[in-house]
Amino acid sequence: MELFEVIGRRRSIRFLLPFRPVEHEKIQCMLEAARLASHWGNVASLRALVIERDHASQEVLDALPSPVGGYQVPLAPVVIVWYIETGATAEVGDRLRELVDIGAIGYGDDKREEAETQLIPVMEAASEILRQPGLGEVDCGQGIAQATLVAFSLGLGTCCLGSGDPEGVREKLGLPDTCRVLVTQTVGYPAEQPEAGGQRPRPPFGEMFHLNAYGEPFPRSDEVVDDLKRQQMIQTPAPLPWREEELLYLRRGLDLKGQGLL
Ligand SMILES: Cc1cc2nc3c(=O)[nH]c(=O)nc-3n(C[C@H](O)[C@H](O)[C@H](O)COP(=O)(O)O)c2cc1C
Repeated sequence: MELFEVIGRRRSIRFLLPFRPVEHEKIQCMLEAARLASHWGNVASLRALVIERDHASQEVLDALPSPVGGYQVPLAPVVIVWYIETGATAEVGDRLRELVDIGAIGYGDDKREEAETQLIPVMEAASEILRQPGLGEVDCGQGIAQATLVAFSLGLGTCCLGSGDPEGVREKLGLPDTCRVLVTQTVGYPAEQPEAGGQRPRPPFGEMFHLNAYGEPFPRSDEVVDDLKRQQMIQTPAPLPWREEELLYLRRGLDLKGQGLL
């Protein structure tokens, strides 16, 4: 499947087959994809704690954000807790030296000297500010997005879940206090049809994206849209006609009665 189609077909999958484990190799592929994502200063602050439901302690399972996750966490054979290690920013000097040495940054013959006198001092001075929520989270989001697309390509379903108390989750999981929990992601084999009811709605394109000046909508070409439909990036919008019956079937089949769902 081409990238455009992968982007188009991916959905947040909330209903998973609770009895089917996920191969370690597939989780590793997700982590490898996350590791390769771009990051400011190449400091790579994204971290993950992979939790296998059948092997984790009750204490660890209890730390997962079930009030937000609802029925989803208990259905998931694997939950990945993605978090940022803000301490990684302290390494920015060395990470930049690596980039300069391998020729990834466009300095000339005196590349080390230029880096040591210009780029590295500026970035080291900024690293304390860059520990605050913001840019680092953007970078981590890119890694999580890559992992999500890889999971989909491998036949897995995932759904990101926020937590009302990320600091509490961090403490309960024993993560260092330099870390911030970002999101937990349920992972498993989908119990839903691949369409999961159709492509989910988004705000109008022109409201989201601007050209040259704020308030000037980026023009949306119908020809491009038609081409993206042909390439399966833009798909039939939700809801598909049989979605409600599918949901009823899933709720009954997964015995979700009593969880506010039936
Ligand atoms: C960072 C993040 C946090 C999310 N948190 C939740 C959540 O707590 N509960 C939930 O059911 N879905 C959550 N979602 C899933 C979104 O609601 C989902 O992206 C949305 O329903 C659109 O569906 P789609 O991903 O299939 O396009 C989250 C998604 C992201 C990226």
